[in-house]
Amino acid sequence: MSADKRITPRNFSFDFPDDLDPKWVSGDVFRAHFFNGVSLTMPYLEPYLCKTNNDARAFIQDPELLQDIKDFNSQEYRHHECHKRLNSLLRKNGYPEFEEVERKIQESYKRLSAKSLRTRLAYSAGFETMTQGFTKWMCGKRVKLFKDSCPYITSFWLMHMVEEVEHKTVAFDVYMAQSGTYVHRAIGVFHGSFHVLGYGLLGMLTALKKDKLLWTIKGQFGIARMLGSVIWNVGPSLLNALLPWHNPRATYDPEWVHDWVNAYPDADPDCQPLVDTNHPEMPIPHS
Ligand SMILES: [Fe+2]
Ligand SMILES: [Fe+2]
Repeated sequence: MSADKRITPRNFSFDFPDDLDPKWVSGDVFRAHFFNGVSLTMPYLEPYLCKTNNDARAFIQDPELLQDIKDFNSQEYRHHECHKRLNSLLRKNGYPEFEEVERKIQESYKRLSAKSLRTRLAYSAGFETMTQGFTKWMCGKRVKLFKDSCPYITSFWLMHMVEEVEHKTVAFDVYMAQSGTYVHRAIGVFHGSFHVLGYGLLGMLTALKKDKLLWTIKGQFGIARMLGSVIWNVGPSLLNALLPWHNPRATYDPEWVHDWVNAYPDADPDCQPLVDTNHPEMPIPHS
């Protein structure tokens, strides 16, 4: 990564209210439970990405890439700490069933940790590809998705996605430095993406079962609509990643993300960058 495109480890901390409502998306319980389900994976996934990067250090000589790994890990470590706090509030405020889902996720990452370094790096690069699709979707369509929703969780997710853009090249570069073969990278796109989405879906279905919505027509329709939306908005990024000449440097990022990053250094580093979810355009929080 060039000097003008630095990865900035920031204070990543949101004071979620104690009485936080797990159905935090205004008017769409399915969307809330989908993102809550994905959040359940993060305290296990993100440390796994950091550990995988660290295991690859021995294959890397480029000092810039070694610095990128350090900064990537710093961002991901802060993300997972914040997801952990959010997830504990989700459990406390209505969904203790998530504990069992998290136990399954933890077991799965234990199994994944025993895989070869190439497989783990391909998984990391593949998952990071999917986050680019999520960023385009969540930041680009933030008003449609999160208008009038809880500002704490909305801002937390959007800031997470901003930082995913900042470090979008790292997992790919590490994979290319250690192995670089196309076939395994392509398998990693499916492996990293569907593994996380699968457990996210399990979390979503667990919450909908608790809400007695799972086996209703409304529930089935809501699940189908939510999954259709994920496929429609995130799928193109996965297809793009399957191109043999794919490089995350060439992918487009929403303008809102760049505005967020460019405005951040002028903001108070201790403040929580809360987005005004009642604003018709939901501008960057520190404009
Ligand atoms: Fe992250
Ligand atoms: Fe990431």
